Amino acid sequence: MSTRPDRAAGPARLEIDDLVVSFGGVRAVDHVTLHAEPGSIVGLIGPNGSGKTTVLDAVSGLVAPTSGAVRVDGAEVGDYLPEERISIGMVRSFQDCQLFPELSVEDTLLLCEDARRSVGVVSSTLQMPWARRSERDKRRAVDQVVTSFGLGRFREHRTSELSTGTRRVVDLASIVLSGPRLLLLDEPTAGIAQREAEAFIPLLRRLHEVADTTIILVEHDVPLVFELCSEVVVMETGQVVSSGSPDEVGRDPRALAAYLGASDEALLVSGPTRARAESGGNDNGG
Ligand SMILES: Nc1ncnc2c1ncn2[C@@H]1O[C@H](COP(=O)(O)OP(=O)(O)OP(=O)(O)O)[C@@H](O)[C@H]1O
Ligand SMILES: [Mg+2]
Repeated sequence: MSTRPDRAAGPARLEIDDLVVSFGGVRAVDHVTLHAEPGSIVGLIGPNGSGKTTVLDAVSGLVAPTSGAVRVDGAEVGDYLPEERISIGMVRSFQDCQLFPELSVEDTLLLCEDARRSVGVVSSTLQMPWARRSERDKRRAVDQVVTSFGLGRFREHRTSELSTGTRRVVDLASIVLSGPRLLLLDEPTAGIAQREAEAFIPLLRRLHEVADTTIILVEHDVPLVFELCSEVVVMETGQVVSSGSPDEVGRDPRALAAYLGASDEALLVSGPTRARAESGGNDNGG
């Protein structure tokens, strides 16, 4: 039997092997293998309906795989409940605290710290080191993320008053407070105006540094993925059609045929000053 992944052990290693997820007759994920080294950012891209979200759902335990294995630090997590996956440091993007529009940014973040502490109460039986944090530690942690993510001037604003982009930044800040070791981000820039989306490259980089976590990043924004990720995996109709470094994938005819061919203009402008080609880089109609 493999040992349980250690909550305090730094970024996690994720291994998805030969994963199949079927919904009735639809094979949404069709023998997908994807490995993420500890501390890496792996981008998962592909057309609408290619199975990206379903891969994240299988890793986070929201859907049951038909076959295949998901391992964190070598431990098979297939039998873990979603809340057990949280307790080993697996965090799925966009947290419940965003459901409280009347709360200020600061209170939202404090609430996230509380949520983490309440997980800590449950897991104090598992000897989690962060099970007990003082009120002062809590405030200090919130102050740090407010500074890191440039949220100071929004501190007292209600989350409902914020732009979509700033709400997403609050989401990222709350993710840091949840202390991820393996972070599953599903389209963090979806629905954001281009001007705000551009700021997400440095923000996600900061999140990666501050949180010291492995990240699986699902995004339609190809330049952002190529800029941030050490490895890119391209899916089409449930299968991996290309994977490798951004350079390798960018030159792979299979990746171009499956997805990137529609957005080669976007590839050319990869970088912080990308002129995002809405028509090419994002085929996400809905
Ligand atoms: N709960 C479900 N029941 C039935 N079919 C589903 C379910 N969830 C996803 N699917 C199907 O599985 C396939 C993959 O969907 P998935 O949402 O994983 O794609 P995606 O790559 O995330 O797409 P998008 O880029 O549009 O978010 C699609 O054909 C979708 O219709
Ligand atoms: Mg999706």
